[in-house]
Amino acid sequence: MKNILVTGGAGFIGSHTCLVLLEAGYNLIVFDSLINSSSKSLSRVLELSGINDFGERLSLVKGDIRNFSLLQDVFKNSKEKGMPIDAVIHFAGLKSVSESITEPLKYWDVNVNGTRILLDIMQDHDCYTLVFSSSATIYGSSQQMPISESADIKPINPYGTSKASVEQMLSDAFYSNLYPLKVACLRYFNPVGAHPSGLIGEDPLGIPDNLFPFVSQVAIGRESLLRIFGADWNTPDGTPIRDYIHVMDLAEGHLCALNYLEKNQPQIFKVNLGTGRGYSVFEVINAFEVATDKKIPYEIVDRRKGDVAVNYADISLAKREMNWYAKRTLNSSCIDGWRWQLSNPNGYK
Ligand code: NAD
Ligand code: UFG
Repeated sequence: MKNILVTGGAGFIGSHTCLVLLEAGYNLIVFDSLINSSSKSLSRVLELSGINDFGERLSLVKGDIRNFSLLQDVFKNSKEKGMPIDAVIHFAGLKSVSESITEPLKYWDVNVNGTRILLDIMQDHDCYTLVFSSSATIYGSSQQMPISESADIKPINPYGTSKASVEQMLSDAFYSNLYPLKVACLRYFNPVGAHPSGLIGEDPLGIPDNLFPFVSQVAIGRESLLRIFGADWNTPDGTPIRDYIHVMDLAEGHLCALNYLEKNQPQIFKVNLGTGRGYSVFEVINAFEVATDKKIPYEIVDRRKGDVAVNYADISLAKREMNWYAKRTLNSSCIDGWRWQLSNPNGYK
């Protein structure tokens, strides 16, 4: 396997993964509409990999995954150049829980229908290896901690439903036995941090939904204070607990998933990517303050719709099957995330 199509590769997790894949020797075609990202992330990835120009080992095609003919052309052109696409890593999609509640059909269209189109085209071109960005959100408010892959799938918002539906669609396609599919559904927990260079990182459009970028933006002065969504949860300090995973660990998880699929028989492999350790909102604030020497002012407000109290991963399957585990700490996520924020106060703009 040499040539990889990376949909959504200009985004937060995609750009870090592109860097890891280039360093591992793969050639990449990024297919991205840039609706939630900038091509600058990829210029920085090239800079970090010591590659001079787009086109050398990484090219960018700007397009929407629902654009059947454009995506079809990408596969055709690669074949004609003697560099057929061997595998796809599929990041492209929408990821806002709150937007999915107000615009559910958009999530069905982009996340579910977009993946169906991609799968159709892959099959047309005898490309059967797919790594899909799933999410721990598909477990909903599971009571069983840490959550293992065998837990019930009970998403509690349309974003989660869209990810669970894609997993189901991929399972159905695999069990049809029509194609020798090799699929990994990577169930990410909470990706945070940035590359240690400070050159690439998370650049949310508008006001961030997620805790880490929000805390960072308070620290840099773009937001005045953090609103903590409830301190009356059934947890030791009353704030919700999550499994925050450094984005570079996550990026390396994709390389391990590709290696795993390459070495193994056709299958659908569903696996958690987390650290196995949970931290509360107060613990995150404290870690960030210690790492950055900045004070994070906050107020406690009502709970946010769709939140759960505790969510952290059982990571034994990833360790056993892919020999992957998270190596970086919450402290390094804070330090690296803050370096990115300080060097790029307005993101890629
Ligand atoms: P991101 O928004 O930074 O990256 C997604 C990329 O997909 C962006 O570059 C965007 O421009 C592109 N894109 C969106 N719709 C597209 C379309 N229709 N056609 C082509 N490109 C399109 O998000 P991310 O945090 O890097 O997430 C990557 C994937 O991981 C997503 O599928 C997301 O649902 C999933 N995920 C993210 C998290 C998280 O907290 N960041 C957690 C679990 C799962
Ligand atoms: N939080 C605040 N204030 C904020 C933002 C978040 O108190 O301004 C709290 C939330 O209530 C939650 C915790 O911080 O308790 C983490 O919230 P995030 O929004 O950072 O993360 P979530 O766990 O809600 O969800 C994220 C992604 C989902 C993904 C999921 C995977 O947004 O897309 O992780 O577990 F599916």
